[in-house]
Parts: sequence; structure tokens; C-alpha cells
Amino acid sequence: MRKIYIFDTTLRDGEQSPGVNLNMNEKVEIALQLEKLGVDRIEAGFPAASPGDLAGVAAVAGAVKNATIIGLSRSREQDIDAVREALKAAQDPCIHLFLATSPIHRKHKLRMEKEQVLEAAERAIRYAKQYFSKIEFSPEDAGRTELDFLCEVTDMAIKAGATVVNIPDTVGYMTPAEFGNIFKTLKEQVPGIEKIQLSAHCHDDLGMATANALAAIVNGADQVEGTINGIGERAGNTAIEEVAMALATRAEYYGAQTTLNLKEIAKTSRLVSKLTGMVVPGNKAIVGANAFAHESGIHQDGMLKEKTTYEIISPEIIGLKESKLVLGKHSGRHAFREKLIDMGYELADEAVNAAFAKFKELADKKKNVSDEDIRAMLEEKLVNTPEVYSLEAIQVSYGNESTPSATVRVRNAGQLQEKTAEGNGSVDAIYNAIDLTTDETVELEDYSIKSVTQGKDALGEVHVVLKQDEVSAQGRGLSTDILEASARAYIDALNRLIDKRKSPGRRDKMSLI
Ligand code: KIV
Ligand code: ZN
Repeated sequence: MRKIYIFDTTLRDGEQSPGVNLNMNEKVEIALQLEKLGVDRIEAGFPAASPGDLAGVAAVAGAVKNATIIGLSRSREQDIDAVREALKAAQDPCIHLFLATSPIHRKHKLRMEKEQVLEAAERAIRYAKQYFSKIEFSPEDAGRTELDFLCEVTDMAIKAGATVVNIPDTVGYMTPAEFGNIFKTLKEQVPGIEKIQLSAHCHDDLGMATANALAAIVNGADQVEGTINGIGERAGNTAIEEVAMALATRAEYYGAQTTLNLKEIAKTSRLVSKLTGMVVPGNKAIVGANAFAHESGIHQDGMLKEKTTYEIISPEIIGLKESKLVLGKHSGRHAFREKLIDMGYELADEAVNAAFAKFKELADKKKNVSDEDIRAMLEEKLVNTPEVYSLEAIQVSYGNESTPSATVRVRNAGQLQEKTAEGNGSVDAIYNAIDLTTDETVELEDYSIKSVTQGKDALGEVHVVLKQDEVSAQGRGLSTDILEASARAYIDALNRLIDKRKSPGRRDKMSLI
């Protein structure tokens, strides 16, 4: 079996998804989970974008030991220097240089002729070569680049010292046959191609990202770039879990495999969804909530007789386990601890005790506490943001013939503030009341709510994005009551905004020119 290297760009291309803005701790949390998943390479960010991005990449480089850490760089010396700075602590650093090569980009964006593009890219690779033994070069918009010019660019990159040449279908324009043909042609026509690795980087604008990546593998790609849950610019990137499971499930067809720890897929997907606030659609391949649900009677009958009639992947492979042990308010500490171990959580005694106290509170409100409830409860505060504000109490008055009003009690540096406000709905009233207890002026950019499990007593999870002076921060809140969850999410986002203000270099996503 040929090994396919997995280059994860959740923290760079994935973080370019609209509305996503991860702070440094969140980046590290995701990177450590990617390390557990066993990805070979982690693109941690774009250090030249801002001091904050540089610090984020540096933090990931310092934390991850078992994966190559990569920083993105335009083909410019100042960007390369920023990557050098960011990757100082990395055990296995790599720089990812890019420059657009397609006629459209050359003419309208770069205003450069082919020769100038070749020269600029070569200069950048040679400069980077003084500092990095691993260099990936991407001819941006390779999919729409003339094939003979792409061969020329690849030839130049190899001679200048690149160790990986990545072929991005930047705008998701390719068909699998066309994209596969690029790899076949490069393999056949570029001298010395066997000395480097070829990589595929696809976007999903026409829903082809995974199919194109697999076509690249069939035609000789050594590496696939992608993100968890397929998040990314516009319609997103190739979903890593889809490629890994396609190779694992159809090993006889592809004759290639990743070395991912497939059992970590579900956990990684949940973490990325939670920290980015990007909800995974129910019908999403591999990690959607319905990916293993069988609704029709005929399918259910088939499944009961023989699972393989309708199931090509068993949920256990990606780390989803059917639980036989349902917990409730009479469950003791021992059963709770067993459940945590069963679910793959290794917690110290103190953390188990704290989680058990939270579980008891939840079990008072919910008859049966499911695995999903426990997971949501444990993962609610994955990353600790300093709590400037905390919610102490909330009281809401609502009637369809009266104006909703809310009273909140919020703690700020030991001081309690209680305020009442009205709004055009209960959530609006709560947010107006919270605003009165703080000195912050913020704008609510996004609000979404989802139920963690089924049933009237399900836990509700609210996700909000707040904006202040062009800086956005997201927040999450969890409760069996959606109004309380809404208040918690708002306060969480406020605390993150304040934290972001203090951290070095705020960034608005900059275009990759
Ligand atoms: O899609 C793209 O072209 C990119 C490059 C920076 C590789 O993300
Ligand atoms: Zn991309």
C-alpha cells in the first residue's frame, strides 16, 4: 500500500471560512487533537498576516511534537522571515510558498508575465532554502494554469529546492478527469519529479473537492491537503475524513492509505465544529449526525438481518460507540468514571470530581443523560478564556401580548451588577440587559442554536459571534434552557473579545495576494 500524506490546513485555509476566528488557545487545542488523529503535516497559519497569526503559529509549533508544522508565505522575503520567526520552536518546520500562475491571475491580479512569475517564485524558493530544508511550493490556481506552463513551473520549483509541489484547484473548477490528468502529465513530463512529493489541494465550489483529491491520488499524488469537516474558503476544502475513509473503505481500489488514527475522526470533527462554530450538516459524509442513521423500514429490516446490507462503514471505526450504559440522577461516581473512560476521556481525579458535580446538576434537570450530553458538558469550556464577566442569574418575562423583558445579574471583577431591559424578543431583552451591565459596545453578528440530543429536556447549545471595532469573537453557551444558553454564549463571546483586544495583533482576514 502506498502511503498518502495528510496535510491538514484546518487552522489556515479552514480558518479562512467566513465567520471563523480562532484564538491562540483554540488553535493549539485543535492542533493537539490533529496530532492525536495522526495527520502528517499541520499548516498552522499565515504568520505574515498579523502578529496575532504569527503568535498562533508559534504556539502550535511549540506544542505539537509529532507532526511537521507549516507556515504559509507569499513569495516575498518579509513573509518568509515571518515564517522563520513563527517556526523557531518547531521540531520539524516547513514553509509553504505560493504564487499564482494561471493566466487570469497573472493578468489581473499580479500583472506579471510568465517569465516574471517564474523568476519571482524561484527567487523566493532559493531565499527560503537558506533556512528551511522542507519547502512546499504552490502554483496558485494551478487548475486553470496552462499545462505546459505548469510543467515549467514545477521543473523550476524542483531545481530551486522545493521538496513538495502542491497543485491547488484554488477555485474548485476542475473535474476529476482533468485534475487527475494534471498529475499524470507532471509525473510523465517533468524531469526529477520522483525526487519530490506531489500534493493535491482542492476546493469544493462544484462539490468536487474529495473526488478531485482522490483522482489526484489515483494519478500519483503523494499528499492530500484538506480540512476537518471540509471547512474553508467559500464552499470549503477537501474533507480529510472523507479522503481517509474512502481510502480505508476502498483499499483494494486505491491501493493507498493514510496512517491516520481513524478512531479519532469523530472527536476531531466535533472539536473543530465546536471551536469554529461551524455546524456539521446532518447529511455530511462520515461525520454528519445522520451518516449512520437508517430511517426507512426496508433499510432497518436489512440492517437487523445483516449490517453490511446498508452499512459500508461501521461507526466504531471513526470512534462512535453505541453506549449501553445510560446514566441518570441515581448514577454514582463509579459509573460516571467508567462512562468517561469508555468515552475516551482520561481525566485526573480533580477533573472527574468537577465533571461529576456538573453531571449531577444536569441529571436533576434531565431524566436520562446521554453520551452526547456528557460530551457537550465536558467540552463546553475546552479552552479557558479569562472570565471578566460571568453570569450569576437571569429572569425573563415573556408573553405574546406584552413586551419581553429580562433581568440579569452579572459579576465583573467581584462587583455584581443587576439590570433589566426590554427587547423585541426574549433573547434580545437578555442581550440588552447584559449590555447595560458592561462597558462594552458590541454588535451581534451571528446567533445560532442547536439541540445536543433529542427530547424536550435536551441540552441546547447556542453559538454567537460578536463584533467590536472590526474585531469578531465567537462564544458558546450550553444549558437545558435555551435562554440561559443564549446568555452564557453572549457573555463567553464578550470575554473572548476582551481577551482578543489584549492579545498581540488583531487580524482581519487579509487577502492572499
Ligand atoms: O487554494 C489555494 O490556492 C491555496 C493556496 C494558498 C495553496 O490555499
Ligand atoms: Zn486553498
